[in-house]
Amino acid sequence: MVERKRTSSSTRSTAAKPSPVPEIDDATSIPDAITAGVSVELPASADSTLLVATSVDSEAVYSRRHSGVSSTPEPSSMLTDDRLLDVKERPVVPLGWWQRAIFEMTFHTVNPGDSRFWTARKNLTSRIATPIDGDTRYVPVLTRKGGVGKTTITTLLGMAMAQHREDRVVAIDANPDRGTLAERIPRETKNTIRSVVLKAPSIGSFTDFVEFVSRDKTGLHVLASDPDPTLADAFDEFDYNVVADVASRYYSVILTDCGTGIVHSVMRPILQRANALVIVSGGSIDEARLASETLSWLESNGRAELVRNSVVALNTATSGTMLVKLDEIENHFRSRVREVIRIPYDAHIAAGSVITWTKLNKITRDAAELLAAFVVEGITSNE
Ligand SMILES: Nc1ncnc2c1ncn2[C@@H]1O[C@H](COP(=O)(O)OP(=O)(O)OP(=O)(O)O)[C@@H](O)[C@H]1O
Ligand SMILES: [Mg+2]
Repeated sequence: MVERKRTSSSTRSTAAKPSPVPEIDDATSIPDAITAGVSVELPASADSTLLVATSVDSEAVYSRRHSGVSSTPEPSSMLTDDRLLDVKERPVVPLGWWQRAIFEMTFHTVNPGDSRFWTARKNLTSRIATPIDGDTRYVPVLTRKGGVGKTTITTLLGMAMAQHREDRVVAIDANPDRGTLAERIPRETKNTIRSVVLKAPSIGSFTDFVEFVSRDKTGLHVLASDPDPTLADAFDEFDYNVVADVASRYYSVILTDCGTGIVHSVMRPILQRANALVIVSGGSIDEARLASETLSWLESNGRAELVRNSVVALNTATSGTMLVKLDEIENHFRSRVREVIRIPYDAHIAAGSVITWTKLNKITRDAAELLAAFVVEGITSNE
């Protein structure tokens, strides 16, 4: 059974909200007559469509003013807030200090709207939150160079998405060479991708699946790779497909943190399933070259469309960054991919341990959110 989406709060409130109670003037009103099986003489001009609609309105059926116990007594669920309270609509308070001050000083009669900062902020978060219809979207994070920040960027991207999206996001560590993704969030389980492969037939619900992942406060779920290098290296095409098939029942977005070996058998299903890519480059010449070569390899292996739809994350925390013209690296990638985003150095990340979203510098969170918005645009653009 597929149970991928969280129910959005707006859907919940709409579903729970009953329609307003229509006015019924006397005890022998038409709905009463219908429920009591009484035939009512109607003028020839009466609108029969309207009558049919009224007859199925349960609130109209329950609403009556005569005394005594009704043959259709109201259930307690009919005593809703909407029916019993005079709810006044709350004024929409503008965001931004002077906008709010004007709003308050004019006793809510003048609303200048949100400040430019807050308008841009709401716009960004709503881009990240764009709903995904249909199938699960797969976003691998890769490059052929080691140590340039694939795992860090998978984590930041996943956190930014999980923070703002209503549906579920999971990041899978598919690095065959001792992946470290699970070390970037508080570890809640010793289970790994191998455990999912072994127990796949018994995973029948989301509750079963969460036993295999660790969860971060932003809502990101992480599935760890195997710490044993022999087992990790043996994780292949078949295994990834098993894990991805099970995860796709419960998650709308699957991020995959890859290793450097682009021809390792696990890369085949990762690229086959990919809807968008994040290519990570460092800020040094060799790091940029290897990222660029990754794009060339993908193009010459039938993935040119995917390359055009990809986003390059230019991690400016790598050691050579200060020595080269970053603008030139950026211009090079801009000519090849859809977007380029610079990821700044952050001392909290450099510690190499658990990443806590709220402890990151604001510019790091901003960069991660912009990256997330670009990625979501890439995976929702074909809907
Ligand atoms: N933006 C950043 N600011 C500070 N430190 C960073 C940043 N990006 C990465 N690092 C540090 O650089 C090191 C390598 O990063 P990371 O593990 O993400 O690279 P990787 O490409 O996944 O490596 P591997 O190829 O081994 O999987 C880590 O210690 C990480 O904390
Ligand atoms: Mg890594």
